[in-house]
Parts: sequence; structure tokens; C-alpha cells
Amino acid sequence: MNRPLRKVVFPVAGLGTRFLPATKVVAKEMLPILDKPLIQYAVDEAVDAGADTLIFVTNRYKHAIADYFDTAYELETKLERSGKKELLALVQNVIPKHVRCVFVTQAEALGLGHAVLCAKPVIGDEPFGVVLPDDLIWNKGVGALRQMAEFAASENAGAIAVEEVPRSETNKYGIVDATPTSDRAALIKHVVEKPKPEVAPSNLAIVGRYVLPGRIFELLESTKPGAGGEIQLTDAIAALLAEQKVYAYRFDGTRFDCGSKLGLVKATLHFALQDPTLAAATREFITAV
Ligand code: G1P
Repeated sequence: MNRPLRKVVFPVAGLGTRFLPATKVVAKEMLPILDKPLIQYAVDEAVDAGADTLIFVTNRYKHAIADYFDTAYELETKLERSGKKELLALVQNVIPKHVRCVFVTQAEALGLGHAVLCAKPVIGDEPFGVVLPDDLIWNKGVGALRQMAEFAASENAGAIAVEEVPRSETNKYGIVDATPTSDRAALIKHVVEKPKPEVAPSNLAIVGRYVLPGRIFELLESTKPGAGGEIQLTDAIAALLAEQKVYAYRFDGTRFDCGSKLGLVKATLHFALQDPTLAAATREFITAV
């Protein structure tokens, strides 16, 4: 595991039913926070962590994500001809030149574990990252995935992002039972997907960032459907714990649950308040309503 992180998986095959009717035609990962779609924030974080191969696990309806990272020939030609250099740079720099995108289809929606397993042929046996774009993590310094990748490499172990949630919400998350080893890290003893509050081992919830060894693929292959009848990544991680160390990692940053309307609103306001051209007017609006 103490190799640098080169490959990151983005499971983006979900239907985004919480944002219907918008998601009839717009992939939920393309919903914007200000002027960037959620997937752009996720990709930026992965590239910052050192990734040069981005694997999008998608479905046959989600052309927009591939289009977004592809060359927009007509648009670029028009902007170039009209001398709009800054806009041209924005369009061309959605991804650095050395980074490649690979698109893998998840034919059936069988769960997050199944989605990650679809990336096996591209990853093979090396440590890799998983980023769930719904979980948008903001911070001023080093991105959450890079914090985790550096920690995982130094410990020669896996790492999963966690944060505390209200006990009443444990049934929305993977929940870990872990022994603290430092301010940020705790060695995971057990992990369970979406337990009811009364049986949850803690209120420390998994956030959508993982650094995992290639071994997880073999474990996923024998993982039976779990919570919600889906093949759960959490269950394969539970099996991994018998073989390797996996840490729960309290990242430095603020998470927004952009899989929910309220989370999307909060993220939009937060990012507007960070933007010098929008901050004052946004603050004025918030205090007036
Ligand atoms: C997935 C994982 C869950 C994790 C969550 C974080 O659940 O299965 O363990 O806590 O992401 O966002 P989902 O939100 O896809 O139901």
C-alpha cells in the first residue's frame, strides 16, 4: 500500500432521483456549485492527490460526463477566433494534460461495491482512491484525498474518510467501530453499512473518500448483497479488516452532502461566501431573508 496513488474511481452511474426532474437529462454530478459541476470538484481533488488516471464508472445515459472532459472543438474554435483567451483557458483546463480519463460502464445498478468492482480491469493490483462526488469537501489547504493518500502510504494501510454524524442518522451511512491512534486516525475494528441508531457501534460515519488496496476487488467478487439488497463496498472492507489494517481518517475540511437539496444549497452559499466577487452581496442577501 505504500505506493503513490495514481488511479481514482468515481462511481457516477446513480440515477439521481432526489433531483428529478432536473436529472431526467442532467447527470447529478453535473449539477453546479457556482460555475463548476460537482464532478469537477471531485476530479480536482483526485488530481491534487496525485492521480493521473481517472476512472468513471458510468451508465449508458450519462454522456454528459464524458462530453464534459472531452475536447469541445466547436466551442474552442469560436472562443479562439473571437480572442476570448480567458474563457478558452477555462474550457480547455478542466483536466491537466497528463491526466487520462477512462470510462467503464456499470450495466446494472447493483450497488457501490459493484460499481467499484467494475473498475478492476483498469486498476489491477495497486492502491487506488474512490471519490463519491456527492460528498463535496472544501478546505483551504491540502485536499481530503491527498491527506488520506499520504497517511495511507505512511502507514502502509487503507484509509476511509469519516466524520461524526447525529446518532439519528447512522442509517444513512457506513458506520465504523475504531480505536483512536492519533488526533486524526483510528484503527477500524468493524464497519457496518447503514445500521439503525439503536444498534450502530458509534456515530462515526464514512464519507465518500477511500484509499484501498487492489485486494478489495477479490473480496468484492465474493461479497453478497447486503443493506438495501446491494453489493456494498462497506461489506468488502469489513472482510478486508481480517487481512490488513484500515484506518478511519478524520480529514481536515468541511463536507457538504450534495446528494441532498439542503446540502447543495449550503455548498452554494458557502462557496459564494468564499468568492470575493460574490461574498458581500451573498452575505447581505442571507441576513435580509
Ligand atoms: C455510500 C456508502 C456509505 C457512505 C456514504 C457516504 O452510501 O455506502 O457507507 O457512508 O456513501 O456518502 P450512499 O450514500 O451511496 O447510500
